Amino acid sequence: MSELNVTPQEIRGAAIEVLRANDLGTMTSAAPNLYPHMWSWDAAFVAIGLARVSVPRAITEMRTLLGAQWSTGMIPHIVFSANDTDYFPGFDRWGTESAAARPEGVKTSGICQPPVHVIAVRHILDRGRENGGTDQAAAEAFVRESFDGWLAWHRWLADVRDPDRVGLIEIHHGWESGFDNSPRWDGPYAAIQPGAVEPFVRRDTAHVADVSERPDDSEYTKYLWLVQQMASVRFDDRAVQEIVDFRVRDVFFSAIMAASTEVLAGLAQELGREEAQELRDLAERFRAGVAATVDPHTGLARDFDVLAGRWIATETVSGFAPLVAGGDEGLLSRQREMLQGPDWMGFPGLRFPLPPSTSPASAAFRPRTYWRGPVWPFLNLLLGWACGRDGQAELEEKLRSTSLRQLSDLQFGEYYEPFTGEPLGSLAQAWTAAAALEWLAGSTDGRPAAS
Ligand code: SER
Repeated sequence: MSELNVTPQEIRGAAIEVLRANDLGTMTSAAPNLYPHMWSWDAAFVAIGLARVSVPRAITEMRTLLGAQWSTGMIPHIVFSANDTDYFPGFDRWGTESAAARPEGVKTSGICQPPVHVIAVRHILDRGRENGGTDQAAAEAFVRESFDGWLAWHRWLADVRDPDRVGLIEIHHGWESGFDNSPRWDGPYAAIQPGAVEPFVRRDTAHVADVSERPDDSEYTKYLWLVQQMASVRFDDRAVQEIVDFRVRDVFFSAIMAASTEVLAGLAQELGREEAQELRDLAERFRAGVAATVDPHTGLARDFDVLAGRWIATETVSGFAPLVAGGDEGLLSRQREMLQGPDWMGFPGLRFPLPPSTSPASAAFRPRTYWRGPVWPFLNLLLGWACGRDGQAELEEKLRSTSLRQLSDLQFGEYYEPFTGEPLGSLAQAWTAAAALEWLAGSTDGRPAAS
């Protein structure tokens, strides 16, 4: 980690400062200018990092997010802060005011993001227990108090987004995947012919050094078309599924569902809740669903385009969904080998041997464009966590130590150019700083730092 001559203490200090500067009181903005609100899966990773600094503040983060839960159980992908000028589309453009299930007194979007939250809750509980005293009491009370909320969220996903019980979550917008403009969604978006979209002025492009780091205007037109479609039926779950032009079974979302539901089952067991077995069965349903998507020729997991009725095979990091979901050791060890092989972490010339979001060997690879190639640190934290869970200390340590070298520029970029190591998108991105805090606390022999 001495590459840029910074000490772990300096990285820690700078990461804490990023979280402090993004702290809006009861929520952390995902980034200072580009993302001035709370994003659902960002908040979970932020809470993992915050728990290394202040267990009560980490609890507050998760409590704020849960306070925005819809009456259906859905946790929305954005909880809006009071700053409604810098970001587009803001609350007014979403049209969620008319949704019957929206929460009282909180402004939110009307779609969701992958359910990493319970993994964060587990981290908070483990940190609380390590610290003891009031941290332990607060963390244990929070788990008891919030359990029903997380249970409702996972049940909503299972019932509403996987009604046919195939073990895969259906998404209705690329934003739900978190991988907004990944090549994964090129096919489904290409098929969309947007109707009249109300005029709009983007704000995101004003906050990056180079507009090619963001999706382009024609992509945004389709993103807004889908929002308009959902708003036209007031975000009613059943109606959305009937009319929306984007219906895809997202394998990476489903893998997070599997992993997180298993963690929730563990919490249920500790609390003596009767839902423990239901949750274990649910986790198994999604693990099996993810494993069944693996392309026998490439060894990578695939998404499924429901409207077109076909598999979506891409060389993107989501192909490694089974590593997150867990499961059959034969499949997982083949995937670990591929991940470290010449098309991914071992691709010649990478600045750091870390997985790019799209393989540089793919024709779809773009080194500077958002989800089309750059390295995303928070994803490497998730992959490392799953390695720790599965007893893969060596790979976990490789991801940890290499990521810390990447972050020793102290910029905490949203994503990184794989060959130059240049930070792109936003700097001072909260979940990147949070990942650094978690990695710094990891033990040097590579064992997971608990949880
Ligand atoms: N990630 C989206 C954006 O770039 C929103 O979810 O604004």
